[in-house]
Parts: sequence; C-alpha cells; structure tokens
Amino acid sequence: MGALIYLDNAATTLRKPPEVKRAVMWAMEHCANPGRGGHRAAELAQEQVYRTRTRAAHFFDTKPEQVCFTMNATHGLNIAIRSLVGPGDRVVISGLEHNAVTRPLHAIGAQISVVKAPLFDAGAWAEAFRAALKPGTKAVVVNHVSNVFGCVLPLAQIARMCREANVPLIVDASQSAGILPISMTELGAAFLAAPGHKGLMGPQGTGLLLCGMEAQPLLYGGTGSMSESQRMPDFLPDRLEAGTLNVPGLCGLGAAFQHLAALPPHSTAARERELVRGLAARLEAVGAKVFSGPGQAGVLSFLLPQLDCEEAAQMLSQRGIALRAGLHCAPLAHQTGNTLKTGTIRASLSSYTTKQELDAFIHAVAELTG
Ligand code: ALA
Repeated sequence: MGALIYLDNAATTLRKPPEVKRAVMWAMEHCANPGRGGHRAAELAQEQVYRTRTRAAHFFDTKPEQVCFTMNATHGLNIAIRSLVGPGDRVVISGLEHNAVTRPLHAIGAQISVVKAPLFDAGAWAEAFRAALKPGTKAVVVNHVSNVFGCVLPLAQIARMCREANVPLIVDASQSAGILPISMTELGAAFLAAPGHKGLMGPQGTGLLLCGMEAQPLLYGGTGSMSESQRMPDFLPDRLEAGTLNVPGLCGLGAAFQHLAALPPHSTAARERELVRGLAARLEAVGAKVFSGPGQAGVLSFLLPQLDCEEAAQMLSQRGIALRAGLHCAPLAHQTGNTLKTGTIRASLSSYTTKQELDAFIHAVAELTG
C-alpha cells in the first residue's frame, strides 16, 4: 500500500507546515512557564505566547487581549455558552450544530430553537434565522461551515441581524478558521470559537476564543496575575486562562499563523472549493449519492449504494484512504440533512490535498461501486 491519502482534515489536519513542528520542538527546549517567573526562560515563554496572541488578533481582526487561548473549540464554545445562557433561556441555533454546542445547551437546560433550511441554500438560512430571532432570545449560535456537509452559512447576514436585534452571537468557526476570511470587528460577534489544529494548521490541544464581550470563567485557578485575590481577574485574557498554558502548542500555532498570513488571500478557500466541486461530480459519476451545492467548503459527505457508511469507510481505509464515517458528533446536522439513520462518509480536504490524491480516492471508491 502507498502513502496514506488523508481526507479527514475536518477532524484534524494531519500534515502541518514544517515550521509549526520546528516551533513546537523549539518551545519544548527553551520555554518555561509564562508569567510564572522572572527568569529568562519564563520571559521567553511569555513573549512567545504574546506573539501568537498578536498574530491571532491580526489574523481575525481583533485586539490581542480579546484572544483567549483554549484547549480546542469545544472548550471555547462551553465558555461562550455558559457566559450567555442560563436555565430556561431561549437560544436560537442552526440545525447544523455540533454536540459541542448542543450538549452544553442541554446540560444548562436552555430552551433551544433550531433553525432549519435546505443545506446549501444560503438565502433560505438567512430568512429562517430572521424568522427565529424573536424578542427574548438570549443568544444565537451559528456553525459557520458544517463539519458534516461543508455548507457555508451566511454569517455576515446573520451577524447583521443579531446586531440589529441586539442579540449576542456565538460563532463556531471550527471548519472555517484558517480557510474563510473572518473579521471579528466586522461581525461584531459576542464570541467566536476556533480550534488551532484544523484549518489554522496548528497542533492539537490548541484553540481560541475571541471575545467581543465579558466572559465568565469555566476554570478557576492561577493566572500569574492578581495572585493576592481569591477572585479571578476581571480582565481578559487572564480571566479565561487559569493554569499553565500549552506553550509548545501555542508556539506551533504562532508559526502556523505566520504560514497562513504569507498565503495569497482567499487562496485556500478557492482551491478547496474547486477541488470539492470536481470531487462531487466524480463521486456521482462512480455511483455515490453526494451532498453538495453552491459555495461548499472543503468538506463533502456521500453514501455508497448497498454499503453501510462505516463499512465503506473501513474498506476504503484498507485501500489507504483516511475518511470519517458515521454521525461526526453532529446528530442535529444529520437530522437536518435527513441522514440521521444512515450517517454519511465524509471526505475533507486541506491546503495540502493534491489532485493525485483525489484521483486515487476516486479510483478506490470505483472499486467498491463498480
Ligand atoms: N468535530 C470534528 C469532526 O468533525 C472532530 O470530525
């Protein structure tokens, strides 16, 4: 069997820019605990973490102190949701949300209003959100790009509606951060959560919560600041960053931001869109049922005739193709796409995915359907 053809980038990007790996290793040799000592190794760590924070702020058009580091997007979403939503509160969410959104809302006992529309009809999504934004809504949560179907929700329009209705917006940018342009300033969102390890190309164990408003801590503990007080600092980012940070991971993420900033604007999104369009057509040509449509990001779900999705993914794995099958931790999205009973097989791309890899993937699928 040849090299692994990795098409599970929606779960995590496996191939990273070499400078990301070098930065992780460098930090492991040189960086101590940021803000926890006056010696050079602690200061160095502090400088590196701040550098990543400023790069993130620049990348997402916000201020460094509004960038809080988290373990992953789920961590950030939990902070955002707990900061805004209490038991019985009405929350409007898209019908594409991941369990990282729906489970915290269920745990809180929120009154969840789910917005549904045809998967790739951005206009219909915007109208459905407009209709759902009733008085008394405490928050809106929007998955920018579905981790199951790759459809892109009309975030700018939804954000404008939220601003006009004065309802805080939480954005789950798990599949869009690093791929689609995002400006926190333009969105005016209350919170935006992103993983560091997917489209941003950083290491696992890193994530970001961009804060457009005050937030409540999820973790309480040492921050290296205001140590005389038994209350968490009331300023960001310290308020949300109790405990030792993942400094090697954050150094890697800093290198990843630099890598992304050097790419031509919109190039990754345009390339993935083109590749996914071709992939959809070719999968259909070899007999797959494909979920695709206008504006699709680099995530594509499909089903193969007569084959259970997990079984098909297993057979493709034996042919060296890495995919994810099942419900993708997003049963609500499958409900919206009418695939809750079957699940789907998902292929997801990264900026490193090549046409040759996609040729080999189609060849393997054709062996199963042919
Ligand atoms: N949420 C990630 C996925 O869609 C892990 O695979």
